[in-house]
Amino acid sequence: MGKSLKIELNLERFEQLEELPDQVRDLFRVAVEAREAAYAPYSNFHVGAALLLANGEIIKGNNQENAAYPSGLCAERTAVYYAGANYPEVEIVMMAISAKAKDKETDVPIPPCGACRQALAEYEVKQAKPIEVYFRGGSGPILKSSSVENLLPLLFTQKFL
Ligand code: THU
Repeated sequence: MGKSLKIELNLERFEQLEELPDQVRDLFRVAVEAREAAYAPYSNFHVGAALLLANGEIIKGNNQENAAYPSGLCAERTAVYYAGANYPEVEIVMMAISAKAKDKETDVPIPPCGACRQALAEYEVKQAKPIEVYFRGGSGPILKSSSVENLLPLLFTQKFL
């Protein structure tokens, strides 16, 4: 038998927004605004993301679906690619994500999908500074990861190329 390797993933859990610093609460307000403007007529699953940049700028993203399903894009990547395109030299400090099915109470934290974690990790590696990630459903507890790498163990990065 091979030697077992364990990788730990550490998260912080907050029961409600009031437990978080003002800056994060403000960011969630923007994420919810973004979520409410999501274009998700096929899944009816609305996701909003807000990024805080080091220059104080806040970037919004939401999921954009398409009749040709795979052409759509998640909220997190919409936001991070906008930041990469428009503020290529500015560090990303943190991201807040809120996800909610249209006619359903979504009260458990909804994490970013694997592809979004990979895309976010690219910018974290590029800036050599962790990006805090906070995620939530439409209500209920909030989970915080102190970095993207923490959310995606065994990260594939440019160093392998
Ligand atoms: N979605 C996101 O926007 N972010 C995620 O991390 C998971 C999924 C979107 C994609 C699609 O529009 C809908 O949610 C259902 O998968």
